[in-house]
Amino acid sequence: MSQSIYPPNPEFSANAHVASMEAYQAMWDRARDNPERFWGELAETELFWFEKWKHVFEWNPPFVKWFAGGKTNVSYNCIDRHLATHRKNKVAILWEGEPGDQRMISYQELHRLVSRFASVLQSRGYRAGDRAILYMPMIPELPIAMLACARLGITHSVVFGGFSAEALKARIQDLDAQIVITSDGGWRRGKEVRLKDAVDEALTDCPSVRDVIVFQRTGSGISMQPGRDHWWHELDAGASEHCPAVPLDSEHPLYILYTSGTTGKPKGILHTTGGYLLQAAITMKWVFDLKEEDTYWCTADIGWVTGHSYIVYGPLSAGATTVMYEGAPDTPAFDRLWRIVEKYRVNIFYTSPTAIRALLRQGDHWPNGHDLSSLRLLGSVGEPINPAAWEWYHRVIGKGRCPIVDTWWQTETGAILIAPMPGAVPLKPGSGTLPVPGILPDVVDFNGNPMEDGKEGFLIIRRPWPSMLRTIWGDPDRYREQYWSRIPGVYFTGDAARRDKDGYFWILGRVDDVMNVSGHRLSTMEVESALVRHPAVAEAAVVGKPHEITGQAVCAFVTLKKGDHDHDALAKELRQWVAHEIGAFARPDEIRFTESLPKTRSGKIMRRLLREIVTSHSVSGDVTTLEDMGVITRLAAQQSEEE
Ligand code: PRX
Repeated sequence: MSQSIYPPNPEFSANAHVASMEAYQAMWDRARDNPERFWGELAETELFWFEKWKHVFEWNPPFVKWFAGGKTNVSYNCIDRHLATHRKNKVAILWEGEPGDQRMISYQELHRLVSRFASVLQSRGYRAGDRAILYMPMIPELPIAMLACARLGITHSVVFGGFSAEALKARIQDLDAQIVITSDGGWRRGKEVRLKDAVDEALTDCPSVRDVIVFQRTGSGISMQPGRDHWWHELDAGASEHCPAVPLDSEHPLYILYTSGTTGKPKGILHTTGGYLLQAAITMKWVFDLKEEDTYWCTADIGWVTGHSYIVYGPLSAGATTVMYEGAPDTPAFDRLWRIVEKYRVNIFYTSPTAIRALLRQGDHWPNGHDLSSLRLLGSVGEPINPAAWEWYHRVIGKGRCPIVDTWWQTETGAILIAPMPGAVPLKPGSGTLPVPGILPDVVDFNGNPMEDGKEGFLIIRRPWPSMLRTIWGDPDRYREQYWSRIPGVYFTGDAARRDKDGYFWILGRVDDVMNVSGHRLSTMEVESALVRHPAVAEAAVVGKPHEITGQAVCAFVTLKKGDHDHDALAKELRQWVAHEIGAFARPDEIRFTESLPKTRSGKIMRRLLREIVTSHSVSGDVTTLEDMGVITRLAAQQSEEE
């Protein structure tokens, strides 16, 4: 583990929202001692409310309500309230398409576009409580559709464009969605990703869907089903620009985002309104140290939670200019991200360790060929960042000048929970450092007893926070069981961690059957279920194996039904099969055919052994954090023995 420490640069601290360790500590203590007052004050200063709440929070474990009785609207907070200020003509969304096309949408223009689309939805009869699936590329119409839904109280569920028709179908069905908003396609690596075709395939089996609205992005031919499918631009042509935001209860469901759990069935994580938005907005200041004049860029896809909280809701509620890029980081060449940073003079840049490792490998000449002097803060999210990648990011991208905020959080947490406040907290490469105010994490053993400093254990959170998930859609028992019963009374993150003598948190990875591939969460069982649906497969066991760039890669052990099989051809076919069943990002890196799988006497597959098999190889490259895999395996074993 690297011992280097990077104290905040005094110049940076002088202008930071939180300028010293003392200021951070005082704020954190205040939040711990009187959370009601702390969050209540912030909710008043940071958000607009049509009506004030009755209680700051109501905690009936494991269910929590924040600011219940208060009336607000996320779309109003992200757009309307800025219109009476100097932000009226400030760029809200600065977008670049993969082919190089650009759009700059001011807050005033965003208001017009969102109001028009909300009118379209309203005139088709959609209202608060309905559910919309959004399956779109990274184009401005995705946040426009999200904000239009939020304006009316329609709960949205964005499905990442990389998911297949099968995965899309499962989500539409679980949600009983009435409407799907999509586009003909989008651009990625110079090719069209044909989204509408996937929607058509999914909808053969989704009777709840009444309408499909299709934005024309690529202009390639698609089929439109009369009565069900409508072009966005045709509906928009007659739309009213007057569509006021509906006052909604603070606990109104804003969105449901599916994420992988430990079974084959994805979980619909439910986020609500006031508490979610408050924490997304305030972490923009605390962690990203956002200033009025900043150009802020998070490279995530809006199909994941990072895009929800840190491309759309956090930055817009904070009145930022948020950059959005449609395509791949290596198209047309490996300097695309640096080209965008230079072109738009990006000040705050937030990306994943996978992207950093992939670009680092291509050589320093790509970033060095661009003027990156506008950057003042860098961020990392999604997986542990190994110190070597951290140092490269710091030295080559940040020129030694920019603090790096390593932000730990999850789909379930809604917002960043552990990360440095960059003007206050000294950095240690590879550590998310300290919790943000209001968050009480701990590292404990299986019985909930705190571990000594330096010892590995389960990362838990002791108290509910405003942007916490409220439940799993349609399955409150699973919510209780997954998050609040493993270690009674505390939130179980599913991560292993240790805390050092300075109280810094070091995240070691998952302790459950969840893999992290390029920062994308994937359940081993989801991939296994996909594999066993193939007619040649008898059984499958999937584990994550260390991978130099993507952190983990999918490795599948497969036993076949009787018959003659061409292993090479079948391995290829099975990889393609998984891409079809889930999405290309879930495609196994490796398929190993085996006569049998190791099992316990009760017939449970011993993934632990398989994990050892795939991790015991010496790993090339600098994936130092993955050395901790042994720890995770031990913890997982301990966990399953106790169960
Ligand atoms: O294992 C942790 C890892 O990603 C998991 C959450 O994945 P997801 O819900 O898809 O959200 C990703 C983006 C917020 C966590 O349980 N993880 C996320 N950020 C970090 C991390 N691991 C280490 N360091 C991080 N900064």
